[in-house]
Amino acid sequence: MIIVIDGPAGSGKSSTAKAIANSLHIQFLDSGALYRALTYLWLRRGKPDKAEFFENLSEIELQTDYSNQVFHVQANGENITDKIRLQEVANHVSEIASDPRSRSFVNGYMKKLVAQGVFVADGRDLGTAVFPDAELKFYMDASLDERAARRFKEIEGTENDVTLEQVKQNLAERDHKDSNRKSDPLRKAEDAIVVDTSGKSFEEQLSEMLEIIDEELKLKP
Ligand code: CDP
Ligand code: CDP
Repeated sequence: MIIVIDGPAGSGKSSTAKAIANSLHIQFLDSGALYRALTYLWLRRGKPDKAEFFENLSEIELQTDYSNQVFHVQANGENITDKIRLQEVANHVSEIASDPRSRSFVNGYMKKLVAQGVFVADGRDLGTAVFPDAELKFYMDASLDERAARRFKEIEGTENDVTLEQVKQNLAERDHKDSNRKSDPLRKAEDAIVVDTSGKSFEEQLSEMLEIIDEELKLKP
């Protein structure tokens, strides 16, 4: 069983998905983290030729789990949870995610995982391409200014040395690339419930979504 949440960067998907997972005692799956993991490995290998990198994806063994509010990612046994959040990774992730070979690698991993449990997952194409038969689909959105301000607040004072303007530019560029790529672009599924979080507090928007889940799925413990 799976609840999917799609939408642009910074719209609140992963923080909401985590809160839903905590509240309903189900598992959380961050699909963007998987594309970030591939991007981090490609960068660390010195940006090798992409065709060669994509041809050898089967040599990468990913392992993920969600605990203590963190979605942990390991690649071939190495913990790369923090590394995948670097701004350098955000700057290149959309180019790696636009290739059909990386999409089929990530989708294969997710489908295997989801077959083993009850999940809430967030991404761009989960409701349209990966899990078209998901039990419940949300599409979250918010204005670019608000999304940039949220993301900037989150990374201020971390390893990332960036300005609000740079964060805004990165989100706008990624939105554009993610929405216009040929393979499984960011798009609202026809049967997704739209949640616009502009001007809404996190608590407000979370309780709205939990109510919908309760009505639709009767999942509450
Ligand atoms: O958290 P944030 O919104 O910054 O992005 P993310 O969810 O970590 O996703 C990073 C990138 O992965 C996105 O900008 C997309 O290029 C790609 N992605 C995707 O193509 N399909 C998904 N289902 C999830 C992420
Ligand atoms: O996963 P995605 O990139 O869509 O967004 P996120 O990482 O869940 O949310 C970005 C930031 O916005 C987080 O720090 C959230 O706590 C915050 N947020 C907010 O301030 N108000 C909301 N209504 C939703 C999220």
